[in-house]
Amino acid sequence: MKTLITASPEEAARYLRSGCTVAFPTETVYGLGADALNSEAVRQIFEAKGRPVDNPLIVHVGSVDPLDELVVGSSAEAHALMDEFFPGPLTIIMKKAPAVPPVVSAGLETIGIRMPDHPVAAAFLEACGRAVAAPSANRSGRPSPTTWEAVRDDLQGRICCILKGDRSTIGLESTVIDCTTSPPVVLRAGAVSLARLQEVVPAIIVASPSAPRTAGSPGMRHRHYAPSARVEIVEHPPEELDGSVAYIGLDETATDFDLVCICTSVDQFAHELFHFFRRCDAEAIETIYCQRVDERGIGMALMDRLRRASEASDR
Ligand code: TXA
Ligand code: MG
Repeated sequence: MKTLITASPEEAARYLRSGCTVAFPTETVYGLGADALNSEAVRQIFEAKGRPVDNPLIVHVGSVDPLDELVVGSSAEAHALMDEFFPGPLTIIMKKAPAVPPVVSAGLETIGIRMPDHPVAAAFLEACGRAVAAPSANRSGRPSPTTWEAVRDDLQGRICCILKGDRSTIGLESTVIDCTTSPPVVLRAGAVSLARLQEVVPAIIVASPSAPRTAGSPGMRHRHYAPSARVEIVEHPPEELDGSVAYIGLDETATDFDLVCICTSVDQFAHELFHFFRRCDAEAIETIYCQRVDERGIGMALMDRLRRASEASDR
């Protein structure tokens, strides 16, 4: 398949409306979209990514208008969160309407909804004129793409179109919150912090990774966010090294790493992480040392991704 690369949201939307897969930029990471109500189109997403079919997709909307067609019986908490955080990096799980094909939600009775806060994504979704199912636009198991070039590296020849935009400003995926239960439960830490969520709904809790309820969050079972290199979480940059090594963190270092990324804030660390992982793979780095950060604000999402990447290294 030839992959067209365009900067035109309207051209990209024409592909999507004709039943094809289109990658597009958002403020978190790039997504790989298809018409959410066209099960054949949605199936192509799973095929292109090599994604396990038991991992549900997030449905992206440009406004709240299509919600009536997508969800049923949404809670007061869900509405309060939508009012506060849409558009933005929050995915809200609600009860799914029958019109949404089972392939989108991997057979679950629920559906995740997100409204991106990004001008190109907004123009694209408006031109599509329909809801767009979209996971992150990486090959399954790889770090999410934060640039259109990273999408091309993973998916060229496997998808119809890439809508070009700038590098994603946040660089980590959205927070996923299940609002089908009371209190709502955070299934995936992300760009909207727990503290910000609790300002709106104080009772919100975080799913513990070992609790059986993560069964409700199928994506959490799968290998995620991992570069080919081994990832090690460290308190401080190491001083003695062997082989081809890289470091990303907040502390400066005098050690002679092959690649280094010093960040001036946790937000910048989050913004750089997946991009840095991909640079490390391109340079055949063997071990990436990542500095631990406080689990406050986006630090909670950052540590979640670092832990997953380092666990994948242990396999
Ligand atoms: O920032 C983001 O969320 C990006 C951009 C493209 O919007 N998308 C993204 O999608 O990260 P994906 O598919 O890579 O991650 C979606 C996560 C998965 O862990 C999935 O299991 C979970 O959300 N999820 C989606 N629908 C769900 C549902 N109905 N119930 C529970 N978990 C769900
Ligand atoms: Mg993903």
